[in-house]
Amino acid sequence: MRSASHLLVTLALSTGLPFAAAAQSWSDQPVKPEQFQDDVVVSYEDGGMYFTEDDIPTYNVAEDGTVDWPTFSGFRRYHSECHVCHGPDGEGSTYAPKIKNSAVHMDYYDFYDVVVNGRQNGNSVMPHFGDNPNVMCYLNDIYVYLKARGMEAVPRGRPGKKEAKTDVIREMEDACMG
Ligand code: HEC
Repeated sequence: MRSASHLLVTLALSTGLPFAAAAQSWSDQPVKPEQFQDDVVVSYEDGGMYFTEDDIPTYNVAEDGTVDWPTFSGFRRYHSECHVCHGPDGEGSTYAPKIKNSAVHMDYYDFYDVVVNGRQNGNSVMPHFGDNPNVMCYLNDIYVYLKARGMEAVPRGRPGKKEAKTDVIREMEDACMG
């Protein structure tokens, strides 16, 4: 990490950006949804889950506001496992970053990596969840929910209408939870 943050500082200095622009957290970067629209386009659906053409999980919100099951599930799991630090609806707190923005800016695999392995920056500690099935079995759900929030595709609060939970999702969940 030391070399990476050193690189960021060097980059900030060499491009003449103010030092503060070398943010530690992606959450500090505002999201303009139109800039990231291409990254969330649904390419295909598989058993009630939606994916981009790069096979990255994404959300699907119908015109009447009905959300895909994983987004709804992610809302619930986020609020039981992450909300205590990261604030309601992924909005961040004085203590932990606004991860609805991070879910848009961060690469999917980097996002996963932070949750699995945790991260520490001085007194600021993100716990590791790699051995917690209540998080790991639902991490794609949490990811698509936060991404939908960051892209302002779903409002704050509990999604009103949702697609039904499919057999495929139920089977995957049972297999994962053991
Ligand atoms: C005990 C408090 C706590 C809990 C619970 C927690 N986090 Fe964090 N998280 C943090 C802190 C603090 C940071 C910032 C760490 C740093 O400064 O490097 C962070 C950072 C992150 C980041 C990196 C954000 C960025 O922009 O770089 C992600 C992603 C993340 N958390 C996801 C999650 C998810 C998903 C959950 C729920 C499964 C969760 N966190 C639960 C405290 C927490």
